[in-house]
Amino acid sequence: MGAPRRALVTGASSGIGEAVVRAFAERGYRVALLARRTSELERVRASLPRPDEHVVVACDLRDEAALRVAIASAGERLGAFDVVVHSAGVGYRARLEELERVEIERVLALNVTAVLLVDREALPWLERGERPVVIHVASVIARRGIPGQLVYAASKAALVSASEALRLEWAGRGIEVCLVHPGVTRTPFFAVQRNPHGRPPPDLASADEPATVAAAILELDRRPQPEVWLRSRWRWFALASLVAPRFADRWLAKKLGPSDQQ
Ligand SMILES: NC(=O)c1ccc[n+]([C@@H]2O[C@H](COP(=O)([O-])OP(=O)(O)OC[C@H]3O[C@@H](n4cnc5c(N)ncnc54)[C@H](OP(=O)(O)O)[C@@H]3O)[C@@H](O)[C@H]2O)c1
Repeated sequence: MGAPRRALVTGASSGIGEAVVRAFAERGYRVALLARRTSELERVRASLPRPDEHVVVACDLRDEAALRVAIASAGERLGAFDVVVHSAGVGYRARLEELERVEIERVLALNVTAVLLVDREALPWLERGERPVVIHVASVIARRGIPGQLVYAASKAALVSASEALRLEWAGRGIEVCLVHPGVTRTPFFAVQRNPHGRPPPDLASADEPATVAAAILELDRRPQPEVWLRSRWRWFALASLVAPRFADRWLAKKLGPSDQQ
């Protein structure tokens, strides 16, 4: 058995990030848990096997100065990053005519800008890592926008594009860059997102559990791939949207029903 892998996980206080922390810690990884709420990060850390081996770094990722300090602190305390998982992210449930500029900027600042800044700050620590892997958590709607979520979809589409570029930029450094596209997952995500007109949340009855997404992320760390979907039908739908967009529109309109089309 080799040395434990050292992981930085953003969004570690809740949902998918919390499940990733747990999956990693259960397999002997040492983890730096990052989000804003120290109390929630400490709750997660205390529930892990060997809590003293993991570290908490609280910061608001929209604050660049705080982000730099937090990543440096995590790197110094773990010594290197073998894997970085970006799970911090927010939604925005609003149609075009409802959009507020300040909210658009808040979504993009976290879902796009912060991911790139974290990768930039993590680079020296990844270069010290063993078989380094970076995993960006995007969404099934990254490659196919849906009504009522156009800013969120655009943020994840930007993340996909940046990830493709970074995958090549970092190929020469030996750092793998992976994308994972969860579908609807049972987390607090829908409750905390900005939803000024009280639009309905998705039906969570058939949602994935965060542990299912975490298992896919663990597998990506073991065997990195450029891009994985949790459910293959969304992959085919992304492809259909590219080659037969009107057909894909009709299928989506039928699936969503009238509430999301007017
Ligand atoms: N749930 C879904 O159906 C779904 C589907 C596809 C993709 N995703 C993506 O999966 C990722 C995780 O979402 P989730 O479902 O686990 O949602 P979640 O339970 O709401 O978790 C979001 C995490 O982001 C952190 N966060 C929010 N704002 C932050 C900030 N300014 N600085 C630092 N951390 C911040 C939150 O912690 P604090 O509040 O403590 O900061 C929390 O740990 C997101 O990127 C989301 O877009 C989710």
